[in-house]
Amino acid sequence: MSYNTFGRVFRFTTWGESHGPALGAVVDGCPPGIALSEDDIQPWLDRRRPGQSRFTTQRREPDQVRLLSGVFEGRTTGTPISLMIENVDQRSKDYSNVALAYRPGHADYAYDAKYGFRDYRGGGRSSARETAARVAAGAVARLVVPQVRVRAWVEAIGGDAIDPAAFDDAAIDTNPFFCPDPAAAARWEETVDAARKAGSSLGAVVVCEATGVPAGWGAPLYAKLDSELAAACMSINAVKGVEIGDGFAAAALSGEQNADAMRPGADGPAFLANHAGGIAGGIATGQPIRVRVAFKPTSSILTPVETVTREGEATEIATKGRHDPCVGIRGVPVVEAMIALVLADQALLHRAQCG
Ligand SMILES: Cc1cc2nc3c(=O)[nH]c(=O)nc-3n(C[C@H](O)[C@H](O)[C@H](O)COP(=O)(O)O)c2cc1C
Repeated sequence: MSYNTFGRVFRFTTWGESHGPALGAVVDGCPPGIALSEDDIQPWLDRRRPGQSRFTTQRREPDQVRLLSGVFEGRTTGTPISLMIENVDQRSKDYSNVALAYRPGHADYAYDAKYGFRDYRGGGRSSARETAARVAAGAVARLVVPQVRVRAWVEAIGGDAIDPAAFDDAAIDTNPFFCPDPAAAARWEETVDAARKAGSSLGAVVVCEATGVPAGWGAPLYAKLDSELAAACMSINAVKGVEIGDGFAAAALSGEQNADAMRPGADGPAFLANHAGGIAGGIATGQPIRVRVAFKPTSSILTPVETVTREGEATEIATKGRHDPCVGIRGVPVVEAMIALVLADQALLHRAQCG
């Protein structure tokens, strides 16, 4: 099995590599009649685009999307929607050492172990260039569930977290870190700059909240909404942890502390807390869905690290070239896209069974 496709009813397949001529996504199962143009997709890609600040990779990619199929007279036809993004700033010479030795923390050794042959230019298919295609597909997913708002931000970089009391949604789009706390964003300028100048890297925590998800979406037991969201986020490059609601912190609470008490409300139960992250028994409760995602520090660092060559000889490798000092920052639009893609799928699945 090759596993380049995600979703059950609203499905997308991504294709392409870091240094190929283009990459893209084919979205299948999209309902017909939805107004869709490149202008609906481009703003989301622009949020993920590299080279927008000194805190992200300096690879210059316009990430201009082309809509090749599935739309007629500005509306989806119900047939596969093909989205293409050209790669224009590939530089194979930055990666020549990677052909000979495996970069620790990258997929080089694992791909060789599996396929016995790999495109080493920029990590090939394992490069996070592929996530541009997810963001394009995610923009289509948002149009399938327009009542849902999917919003992510960076909660911590290198262990330095925002002050929850200072949370300001409007601030997220005003700094290069997608940070809702302006004071934390100011601190991160220094820490990320220092890591970048030292050729080092930092990890990050991204939080995503989906509001407007009606109670009832999801499924019990297998394919719980929790597990679909976790699988979606875990499939993103460099993600090493996913929590729903209080996640691991819930294990330290008592039953009383963890209870999401309910009172009668105007439109069904009003919840007094949301430790569960908006999901119970695998099904949405109507509360905000809350997902936390841990991104590891960028593996490409200038400090030489011990490794082995393809022939099994000891060597060292330092990864030169253009890299994100903290991949979690550009992970924000990718997390949003994956969650929108899951929710579009869940909306159609729910409709299929429950009408
Ligand atoms: C948006 C984004 C950008 C990334 N950019 C880089 C990068 O510049 N350098 C790097 O070493 N890893 C980068 N990564 C992570 C690697 O793609 C990833 O760590 C690698 O393919 C190994 O896969 P794994 O970490 O999921 O096991 C990025 C990840 C994301 C989500």
